[in-house]
Amino acid sequence: MKKNLFIAFEGIDGSGKSTQAKMLAKRLTDEGHKVHLTFEPTDGTIGTLLRNILKGAVKADERTIAGLFLADRLDHLLNEHNGLVKMLAEGYTVITDRYYFSSYAYHGVHMDLNWVIAANEMCATILRPHINLFIDVPTSVCMERIMSNRASTERYENLENLNNVKAKYNEAFVLKAHEENITHINGNRSEHEVADDIYNMVCKLMLMP
Ligand code: TMP
Repeated sequence: MKKNLFIAFEGIDGSGKSTQAKMLAKRLTDEGHKVHLTFEPTDGTIGTLLRNILKGAVKADERTIAGLFLADRLDHLLNEHNGLVKMLAEGYTVITDRYYFSSYAYHGVHMDLNWVIAANEMCATILRPHINLFIDVPTSVCMERIMSNRASTERYENLENLNNVKAKYNEAFVLKAHEENITHINGNRSEHEVADDIYNMVCKLMLMP
């Protein structure tokens, strides 16, 4: 019997994780699975404020931003309408484009990583992903993709920051290796090659007891 999963996609800006999350959601949906595809920052009230901060339309300190991402995540998990806890209980496979490892990586650059991890502990207790899929692409390739696909860049999208963020992802993966299922995927290949690898991994996981 196949079980419904909670899957988190992770990666630096320009890694292609959003494309991969969509491709996986489509493939599973086409096969008849109930799938809820979602993302952080969310499109709720706190997530919308965060998007404005990322665009530079609203000013905020890095510590405030870290707190807002945590609040947005708790709402993402717990809101009564389509919170992830509810969706999983209803039998959906939930695919989220970013979860708490994004906070560890992006905010760990600006403040103590252990503080960011401790602040997010409640989210891990509420819902820990069955798998964290890290789409691994060289930062220089990500920057090229960002520059060729977008008219403007956002707050964290520069090469120096992306190098720092990637280093923090790796630091967090080492710190959390004992309690998190973390898989690195080589994202520097064709979309379909990457998607096939992810699909095969997820199918195996669905069949595990
Ligand atoms: P996106 O590019 O995947 O839409 O994410 C928007 C930005 O939000 C991206 O630069 C990473 C950043 N971010 C954080 O800084 N902290 C977080 O906890 C999350 C989920 C995203």
